[in-house]
Amino acid sequence: MEVTLEKVTKKFGEVIAVEDLTLEIKDKEFMVLLGPSGCGKTTTLRMIAGLESPDSGAIYIGDRQVNDLPPKDRNVAMVFQSYAIYPYMSVFDNIAFPLKIRKTPKEEIAERVNNVAALLEIQTLLNRKPKELSGGQRQRVALGRAIIRNPDIFLMDEPLSNLDAKLRVHMRAELKKLHEKVKATTVYVTHDQLEAMSMGDRIAIMDNGLLQQEGTPSSIYNNPKNAFIGGFIGSPAMNMFEGATETRKDGKLTVDFGSFQLELSDETKETLEKAQTTDLTLGVRPEDIDIVKRPTKEAIKAKVEVIEPVGRELQVHLSAGEASIIVITTPSQDLSAGETVWLLPNKEKAHLFDSKTGMIIL
Ligand SMILES: Nc1ncnc2c1ncn2[C@@H]1O[C@H](COP(=O)(O)OP(=O)(O)O)[C@@H](O)[C@H]1O
Ligand SMILES: [Mg+2]
Repeated sequence: MEVTLEKVTKKFGEVIAVEDLTLEIKDKEFMVLLGPSGCGKTTTLRMIAGLESPDSGAIYIGDRQVNDLPPKDRNVAMVFQSYAIYPYMSVFDNIAFPLKIRKTPKEEIAERVNNVAALLEIQTLLNRKPKELSGGQRQRVALGRAIIRNPDIFLMDEPLSNLDAKLRVHMRAELKKLHEKVKATTVYVTHDQLEAMSMGDRIAIMDNGLLQQEGTPSSIYNNPKNAFIGGFIGSPAMNMFEGATETRKDGKLTVDFGSFQLELSDETKETLEKAQTTDLTLGVRPEDIDIVKRPTKEAIKAKVEVIEPVGRELQVHLSAGEASIIVITTPSQDLSAGETVWLLPNKEKAHLFDSKTGMIIL
């Protein structure tokens, strides 16, 4: 079932929690709403669930406009961070609960609970009480209670953020697997960009109540629309250099970044003239910078500060004048702390943003 938001706005007093949000979530899609705390993710989810009503705009589930439909008639299931499972009920009774209140026949309940338990691989836990379960198992019970209703839409609000790091990574994969099996449209909220990148078919990034960009994880990673997204997606974060344009004697346009200059093509020059901007931010991902041992034209002179081995790669922290830079390289590169090196950003992969508006120029 599709979920469509059309120009949806929600205010709480003076606070605009969600502003003019238009978003189409496809049938069976795993859509991630990503953004920093307070950007309006939960409010968006609660409006889809019917727990909040928009001040303006329309929400559709399938072809049906649901603005005035009460939550219980929307056939959506919501899973929260603080998964409310009943402590005195067994796992079986917790999962069966939504069916019991609907007065589903006993035999049908038993069959459906067993199916869901098999799906979540918790068949052996059905007689236990929540206090006898690990965090991950409890989260599965909460999921089970959502799945058993066969909802058209799953709404998940940071469901993994109470789990420890290792379990969180494991549960990401489990949730994706579950989605493959259940094949229901899912809207998944997180502030964790790694979680979003690894789980989403598509990601919608919000900031300050506004949708910033939507797309597949790789399209957003490779083509961020603005400096906020460039910096928010990717870990370690994209290196950002602030600079200003200068026209050289020979007529070439360059950008002075303090510790280095960048010559711009004539094409870029025209784009900049159109945008009427002189303050620029260069964004380069840590994996898009080469470290070389000798100076070359346009290379950035830098000092190696710290070398951190992270799995199969090295994260090299460097300084160039005022700027701190992180470069990802391989352990085969021979580097030592304190050494002077030169950095070559891959121009093809670098991004140029207008410093004032943050918008991408190139
Ligand atoms: N019930 C409410 N009353 C007043 N302000 C709220 C309420 N719910 C959310 N807000 C405000 O709306 C904004 C968006 O909140 P929320 O949707 O919870 O963000 P997120 O889930 O992305 O952290 C925040 O500024 C928050 O303080
Ligand atoms: Mg929230």
